[in-house]
Amino acid sequence: MSALAGKVALVTGASRGIGAAVADALEAAGALAVRISRTAAGDTPLAAIRRSGGADRRIELRCDVSLEHEVHRVAETMLGTVGAPDLLVHSAGAFLLKPLESTSAEEFRRQLDVNLTGAFLVLRAFVPAMAKRGGHVITIGSIADHVAFPGNAAYGASKHGLRGLHEVLRAEYEGSGLRFTLLSPGATDTSLWDPIDPDRRDDLPDRAGMLQASDVAEAVLFAATRSRRAHVELLRLMPR
Ligand SMILES: NC(=O)c1ccc[n+]([C@@H]2O[C@H](COP(=O)([O-])OP(=O)(O)OC[C@H]3O[C@@H](n4cnc5c(N)ncnc54)[C@H](OP(=O)(O)O)[C@@H]3O)[C@@H](O)[C@H]2O)c1
Repeated sequence: MSALAGKVALVTGASRGIGAAVADALEAAGALAVRISRTAAGDTPLAAIRRSGGADRRIELRCDVSLEHEVHRVAETMLGTVGAPDLLVHSAGAFLLKPLESTSAEEFRRQLDVNLTGAFLVLRAFVPAMAKRGGHVITIGSIADHVAFPGNAAYGASKHGLRGLHEVLRAEYEGSGLRFTLLSPGATDTSLWDPIDPDRRDDLPDRAGMLQASDVAEAVLFAATRSRRAHVELLRLMPR
């Protein structure tokens, strides 16, 4: 039987990149994956979600994770149809590479809004319901959640904050049966790098030497399929 057969997974940031690869891998392992992003083709009708077990169609919900009312709406939809997810993979994120002096306050706030407040809103919307029946929260952090890179103040601050949020929730829900994993990948070749074009810069790794989104998805699957005895609290994945 598939490792995640019958499980419901919610994946944020699933329209492309790491989140899309994670959702594909979870589906291949038998889970029903509900995909969240701002550019989802459209909200899958509630009836279809109720019916599905997911086999016949891709389930997508449109949501900007930095907006409280949109996260609230998606949580109502999910909790009222398929119920609390067994697995929540929070991958939605944005990247900014700029030196301090040219980072505007608005750009700094936007990084915190998407990468940190967005995670808070999603976790607050789902974790209490998940805690009642056990489940697993996997947050996609970054190498920038524990290593300082020049030109990375806004993103690095948001990802360090995300690591803090992960650690606090792990402590807060100790004994609840909920598992929390922080998966922190190094550079991964996704569309996140398109505007930066790292192959033209000496200070950044070439795209060919980066991880692939499928490598991160494999790591998610590894964390999500350990026995009840074993828990992956922290997973740092680097390109060789
Ligand atoms: N690529 C790397 O080198 C790397 C390394 C370490 C960690 N990470 C982390 O991995 C995660 C995924 O990154 P990626 O490389 O897959 O980037 P990506 O290819 O740019 O994909 C980002 C995903 O997040 C979604 N998203 C962005 N803002 C959102 C918002 N406000 N609300 C909902 N969804 C939003 C995007 O969907 P829409 O635009 O359709 O909304 C997209 O699905 C991020 O948290 C990133 O920080 C990436």
